Amino acid sequence: MQHDEHHDRNALSFGAIADVYERGRPGYPAEAIAWVLPPGASRVVDLGAGTGKATRVLTTLAAEVLAVEPDPGMRTALARVLPDVPVLEGTGEAIPLEDDWADAVVVAQAWHWMDPVAASREIGRVLRPDGTLGLVWNLRDETVPWVARMSALMHQPGERVMGVEHPAFAPPFARHERHEVRWVHEQSREEFLAMVASRSYVSTLEAAERQALLGRIEDLLDGDPALSGDVIAVPYVTYAHRASR
Ligand SMILES: C[S@@+](CC[C@H](N)C(=O)[O-])C[C@H]1O[C@@H](n2cnc3c(N)ncnc32)[C@H](O)[C@@H]1O
Repeated sequence: MQHDEHHDRNALSFGAIADVYERGRPGYPAEAIAWVLPPGASRVVDLGAGTGKATRVLTTLAAEVLAVEPDPGMRTALARVLPDVPVLEGTGEAIPLEDDWADAVVVAQAWHWMDPVAASREIGRVLRPDGTLGLVWNLRDETVPWVARMSALMHQPGERVMGVEHPAFAPPFARHERHEVRWVHEQSREEFLAMVASRSYVSTLEAAERQALLGRIEDLLDGDPALSGDVIAVPYVTYAHRASR
């Protein structure tokens, strides 16, 4: 992904909305997270861990889980939810771990914030030789008409831009496999609106613009009997990629 000014401003926009993020964003299906790990993985790093949405799944799959996250607001939110998981300050380009420490490094919804060449090299350094790099993204399933209408309202910059189907890997990673999991995330209306507000291109709008957009999303919900109840079923596709040397 391009590293332009808009991108750099947004990269650390999450801390300010860590609570909204935690309330609104979906977790990850265990099947997708388990798939990116090598057999018998014991030491796993969640890189760009945010509030720990993937970290909490990893703690059910591996004995030693470490979170690395650059944003202090996100680190605080993660420590609140997962007090037993060490959370270190760091980035994909500079990971505060020794060489060959990890069996797997997992990057959930965050690879597009990193420089793929520098981060591939740095992850290669902390991974043992037969370790894996797992990249995971949740995307709302836009083949469902109301989801497509909502995305159009949000004027999002095209989630495909993030490279979820063909992410850029660099050396030392040479081999790459992909897996998709379809699932439904049930949210209350309040959580659903938090999910919309937590997207970086919404949270960085001027307040009036953001309120207007949230109003248009509420109108969309009110106009569809399937969406106007207490629980909103949001269809997702989780894209999982497993890379190795
Ligand atoms: C969309 S959030 C994903 C958080 C979490 N992994 C999840 O799945 O919910 C993106 C995260 O990447 C972090 N981030 C931004 N630039 C980064 C970088 N260069 N290296 C590591 N993490 C970065 C942000 O602070 C934010 O917490």
